[in-house]
Amino acid sequence: MTGTYRALHERSLRDSEGFWAEAAEGIHWYRRWERVLDASRAPFYRWFAGGQLNTCYNALDRHVEQGRGEQAALIYDSPVTNTVQSFTYRELLERVARFAGALVRQGVTKGDRVIIYMPMVPEAVVAMLACARIGAIHSVVFGGFASRELAARIDDAKPKVIVSASCGIEAARVISYKPLLDEAIHLASHKPSACFIVQRPQLRALLVQGRDVDWQQAVEGAPLADCVPVEATDPLYILYTSGTTGQPKGIVRDNGGHAVALLWTMKHVYGVSPGEVYWAASDVGWVVGHSYIVYAPLLNGNTTVLYEGKPVGTPDAGAFWRVISQHGVSAMFTAPTAFRAIKRDDPNGEWLKKYDLSKFRTLFLAGERCDPDTLRWAETMLRRPVIDHWWQTETGWAIVANPMGIEPLPVKVGSPTVPMPGYDVRVLDEEGREVEPDRIGAIVVKLPLPPGCLPTLWNADARYVDAYLSAFKGYYLTGDAGFKDADGYVYIMSRIDDIINVAGHRLSTGAMEEVLASHPDVAECAVLGAADSLKGEVPLGFLVLKAGVQRPHEDIVKEVVQLVRDKIGPVAAFKTATVVQRLPKTRSGKILRGTMKKIADGTEYKVPATIDDAATLDEVAEALRKAGYARKDG
Ligand code: COA
Ligand code: AMP
Repeated sequence: MTGTYRALHERSLRDSEGFWAEAAEGIHWYRRWERVLDASRAPFYRWFAGGQLNTCYNALDRHVEQGRGEQAALIYDSPVTNTVQSFTYRELLERVARFAGALVRQGVTKGDRVIIYMPMVPEAVVAMLACARIGAIHSVVFGGFASRELAARIDDAKPKVIVSASCGIEAARVISYKPLLDEAIHLASHKPSACFIVQRPQLRALLVQGRDVDWQQAVEGAPLADCVPVEATDPLYILYTSGTTGQPKGIVRDNGGHAVALLWTMKHVYGVSPGEVYWAASDVGWVVGHSYIVYAPLLNGNTTVLYEGKPVGTPDAGAFWRVISQHGVSAMFTAPTAFRAIKRDDPNGEWLKKYDLSKFRTLFLAGERCDPDTLRWAETMLRRPVIDHWWQTETGWAIVANPMGIEPLPVKVGSPTVPMPGYDVRVLDEEGREVEPDRIGAIVVKLPLPPGCLPTLWNADARYVDAYLSAFKGYYLTGDAGFKDADGYVYIMSRIDDIINVAGHRLSTGAMEEVLASHPDVAECAVLGAADSLKGEVPLGFLVLKAGVQRPHEDIVKEVVQLVRDKIGPVAAFKTATVVQRLPKTRSGKILRGTMKKIADGTEYKVPATIDDAATLDEVAEALRKAGYARKDG
C-alpha cells in the first residue's frame, strides 16, 4: 500500500477537525460552523455545530445557479412501465420546490416528520428533497414491508403527512399500496393529518375523503417553496432498520455531516466527476438509495439513475447492460445478489456482448458479503475493477472501501479493502483487547464516528448507547465480526447478532420469531439464516407445536409462512419452515442457532459440550434434509 491513502487516513484520525473542515468547503453554508466537532455531550458527538445549511439547496439550487440547470439530474428508467424520463436540474428543482410548497400548504414545517412509502418513481425523490428543502424530516419506508411494519414506523416517527402511491410494480405483479397504507394507519395510534397519493395509471387508488389528496391536485397552484436554513445538527431523515427485536431502530441522519461526508465520497471513493452519470441499482427505501440514488450524486452534480426494475426478468439478464449503455453510466453500485441473479441466467455473459459499455469504469458492490465467485465472474465479464465495500444504514457511507479516487489499491478477494477517513476500525476480543492480524473478533470503530454517521436513534438516546456504545467503552459496535490482515485489509465474516442478510436486505430473525410465536399452535420456534446461492441467506423456521395439536404440519407451515408475509412483508422471503419435536438447546436453555445453521449449510460442526440433548441435533438434521438442506457432509 503506497503512501497516498495511508497518509490521508492517518491525517483524518490525527487532525479530524482539519480534515473534515477542508471537505466542508465543498458545501454551501448559510452560516459557518462554530466547532467542526462538538464533543461537549460525548458520546453524543455533533459535527459542524453552529453551522447552517440546506441539503436541498446544495443538491439542486446551487447547481442551477452555477450553470448545471440544463444537465440531466435524474433519469427515471422503468422497464416495468416502459418509461424513460429525464429531468434536468432546473426541472427537478421546480418540481421539488412545488411539492415543498404543497407540504407547507398542508401545514408541514421545519422539524415535522413526513413518511414516504413509495415505489421507485420520481415523486419519491421529489418528496425526499422537498422535505429537505423545508427542514421537514423524511422517513422512507421500503415498499416490500407490510402494514404492521409501516404502522410501527408511523407510531415512532409520528408523521404529520404520509406520501404514497396507488401501486408498486414488481416484475410479476402490480402491488396495491393503498390498502397497505390504510391498514397501517388503522393499526397505528398516531394518525397523519393528510396523505398525498401519486395515482399511477396501472392501478388507481380510492382516496379517503378528508384525508387523502391526489398528488396532482396537491401541487396544482401550490407556491414554490424556498429553502429553509437548518442547523447542521438538525435531522435530515430517519431511516428505520432491523434491530434485534421486532421494534426497528430509527437511524437519525443529520444535515451537515451527511452532506460533507457524502460529497467527499463521490470523488474519493467512487472516483466520479460532476457531470458524469452515476447509477445505484437499489431502492430509495434502503440506505443505499438514500445516499447513492438521491443525495450524494446530486450533491456532486452528477446525473443519477432511478431504476424501477430488476437485474433479471425486466425483461432479461441484459437489463443492467442496457441501462449502462443507454444512459452512459460511468460508475454503478448494486448488491452482489443482483450479479448472482445475472450470472445464473446468463453465465457466459451473452447479453453483455450486445451493448456498448465504453463509458463504464467501475462496479461497486455492497450490502452483503461478496462471495469470491461472484466477484471473479463480474471482473471477468466486465474487464473493469469490481470494488466491494462495507457499510451500514447506521454509517450512511462506506466504513471500509477501496478509495478509487485517491489511490486504487490491489483488490484482495473477500475483503472490502481498507478503512475510509475518519474510521478508526479495530478488531476486539470478548474482553475488549485488540486481536492480532488474521484473528477474528468483533469489528468496532473508535469514537467519534466521522461525519454522516448516526448521531443517535430517533427519540431513543438510551437505546443508541445500549445497542452500539455499551459493549466496549469508547467504541461503536458494528455488529459484524471479522478480521484485519497484516496489510490492514478488513474482512467481514458474519454478524454477532440475529441479523440476517437476504438479497442485500437486512432482516431480524428475532422479529420473525416473534411472528411465528404468535401462531396459536406454536409453542416454541427458532429462525436462522441458511446459505442461499442467489440471495446469500434465506430465513428458515423451526416450529415446536403445543402439546395436543393434531392438525397437519403442512397446514401450520403454510399459515406461518403467510403470517410472516402479512406481518413483516414479502421482503422477508420467508418460505420454509419445518416442525420438530424439540429445539436443540444448551443446558441453560439457549437455542443453538449457530449449530443449526451449520447443519443447514452443510458445513462442519461440533456437538457443543453444553448441549442438553444431542439427539435434538439429529432431529434437526433430518428435518433439514427433508426440506432440501444439509446436503453436504457435516
Ligand atoms: N414492494 C413490494 N414488494 C416487493 C418490493 C417492493 N418494493 N421489493 C421486493 N418485493 C417482493 C418481491 O416481489 C418478492 O415477492 P414474492 O415473494 O411474491 O416473489 C419478495 O418481496 C422478495 O423480494 P426480493 O428479495 O427482491 O426477491 P426477488 O426474487 O423478487 O428478486 C433479486 C431477487 C436478487 C433479483 C432482487 O433481490 C434484487 O434485484 N436485488 C438487487 C439488490 C438490491 O436491491 N439490494 C438492496 C440493497 S443495495
Ligand atoms: P444495511 O444496514 O442494511 O446496509 O446492512 C448492513 C450490514 O450488511 C452490515 O452490518 C453487514 O453485516 C452487511 N454488509 C454490508 N456490506 C457488506 C460487505 N461489503 N461485506 C460484508 N457484509 C456487508
